[in-house]
Amino acid sequence: MEYKISASILNADFLRLGTEIDSVASLVDEIHLDVMDGRFVDNISFGAPVVAGIRGAYPQTVIDTHLMISKPHQYWRDFVEIGSDIVTFHYEATDHAYVLLKQLREAGVQAGISLTPATDVRLLEPMSAFIDRILVMTVEPGFGGQSFEPQMLRKIEAARTLFGDRVDIEVDGGINQHTIAQVQSAGANVYVVGSFIFAAEDRSARIAQLREALGQ
Ligand code: DX5
Ligand code: ZN
Repeated sequence: MEYKISASILNADFLRLGTEIDSVASLVDEIHLDVMDGRFVDNISFGAPVVAGIRGAYPQTVIDTHLMISKPHQYWRDFVEIGSDIVTFHYEATDHAYVLLKQLREAGVQAGISLTPATDVRLLEPMSAFIDRILVMTVEPGFGGQSFEPQMLRKIEAARTLFGDRVDIEVDGGINQHTIAQVQSAGANVYVVGSFIFAAEDRSARIAQLREALGQ
């Protein structure tokens, strides 16, 4: 199984965003961009122009766009057209998850679907054929710096059992050098890490700690 670290810039210094991304881009597998609309979650972050700017400046980097927005079926195309490699929306945010997954695939990006802690992973079974990535939120979405919810380990195990090795199982929220080993054992293979990396001066040391915990 391929293990990937996806660095979330949500808690980076936005005034120095280029320098911040420079400090991690060559050390991680993906950059994770959290788009929040103040409706689906109680926070507003940034939108398509910022994602487009990062795409343009880092043409080789894998861009993992996490849409925490209401009505993702109205906005997904913007995030495909500006060059996201993976677009993930929330199951809870739309009545059209099945169609949206198919549209993402047809548009040529990896199709991701995310679950807040309260949502049962078995609800995704009917859509299995159209899913490239399942993002299991390990905190309530909206803010960086929250504590990992250990109850989610069972959901990660269930996701891996149900969907097998074809699908990426991604986790997001409270991932650090301790929790990364727990979610790896449960079956997750893509790890979003925000504050554990960006709260430290020495980002490369933090990323090395994560790789070591993964046995890499
Ligand atoms: C939270 C976001 C996360 C967040 C993770 O809703 O989806 O990507 O930035 O931050 P940490 O790693 O600090 O929990
Ligand atoms: Zn996220």
